[in-house]
Amino acid sequence: MCVSLGSRKILFGVCGSIAAFKAAAWVHALAKEEAQVTVVMTTSATRFVAPLTFASLSGNLAYTDMFAEGMAHIALSATADVVLIAPATAQTIARLAHGMADDLLSASVLASAAPVLICPAMNSRMLAHPATQRNLATLRGFGYKIVEPECGRLACGEEGAGRLAEWDTVREALLGLLANQDMAGQEVLITAGPTREPLDPARFLSNRSSGKMGYALARTAKRRGAAVTLISGPVALEPPPGVHLVQVETALEMAEAVSRSAQAASIVVKAAAVADFRAAAFSAQKIKKTTAEPLLELAANPDILASLGRNRRPDQLLIGFAAESGNHEAEGKRKLLAKKADLIVVNDILGSNTGFDADTNQVTLITLDNVETLELLSKEETANRIWDKAMSLLVGKRRQHGTEQV
Ligand code: PMT
Repeated sequence: MCVSLGSRKILFGVCGSIAAFKAAAWVHALAKEEAQVTVVMTTSATRFVAPLTFASLSGNLAYTDMFAEGMAHIALSATADVVLIAPATAQTIARLAHGMADDLLSASVLASAAPVLICPAMNSRMLAHPATQRNLATLRGFGYKIVEPECGRLACGEEGAGRLAEWDTVREALLGLLANQDMAGQEVLITAGPTREPLDPARFLSNRSSGKMGYALARTAKRRGAAVTLISGPVALEPPPGVHLVQVETALEMAEAVSRSAQAASIVVKAAAVADFRAAAFSAQKIKKTTAEPLLELAANPDILASLGRNRRPDQLLIGFAAESGNHEAEGKRKLLAKKADLIVVNDILGSNTGFDADTNQVTLITLDNVETLELLSKEETANRIWDKAMSLLVGKRRQHGTEQV
């Protein structure tokens, strides 16, 4: 199922750092996703941004005073689905590490059973100080998640580690805390995007793959706890945070990269649109236009999926895609058998909102004993449904494999 931030109750702690202005933008972004955000500010945070700003952006009261609203720390923490503290200062990190409860934010965190996400922001030397590092290690020991600060220009004018992480990274971490971690422990290898087969220094053969389907698979698997390696052809997408990205250009490079990672993977998903052919001979000089029409001699590229089907671990789950313009079910079944895959995901490349470059997809999941056509979904929801199917197949394969071992 697709995890979302909508209607989630987020207790958002804001500390006294210049980065508090970014927290205001984050509250606005969360409210746009219909999350229910309640902001708790430290006293020093109010020196940077007024509580009314957060109240206006979140649509809820912004709390600053432990004693203003009765047992606010208990009420606020009791209903939170997740606690997000951004920016988190060295002072608040120290307070939390020592279990102090002398302000509303630290008392609320201490009273909460919800997962906690800490986003530090401070001067590089403060961050590197053994006391801060010890306190962060203590918080990790509590099971709190730390989104590491980024390097760059700091408010104090210095360069170095200590900048508040980017919102996309923090948002992914939030979704990871809220998602069911049913893929924890899985090593997942995903290919995505097109390959490019160069003809000469100016030209190449390629296809319309944008990478969106493969990147959605990588993002959702990561959120669900998997360790993800994403082998990607040339695309215009940001890699999902926390995913090991391997960039390739040609089918031969993709084949080489896959062969390096495949054996370690418990699940392999081949969502890339791999070119079946490359130029038989690359022209080092740009092919000049002459009166005669040039003939293009092609050579076959390796069929990576078929090779995986022949050489995989018996307990490994192998999932292929099929980009079809017709005869979907028959072609999907043919590829399932021909490539020795466990699951083939068929999608229609003629639809305006399916297949290449669309933000949505409508796929048919084909296994040896089942055909299931999904409704039109976002590629992220499609990816989650593919993982739901994969995890159920993996249980069966492990049971079967386990039996074989006995
Ligand atoms: O990237 P998007 O814009 O989001 O578009 C998504 C997609 C349409 C590219 C994706 O959903 C998809 O269908 N990917 C597979 C495209 C493809 O190459 O399909 P195919 O039917 O030609 O290949 C069948 C399978 O063999 C695929 O898993 C493919 O990765 C694999 N293959 C193909 C050729 C080859 N030389 N090696 C391979 O491994």
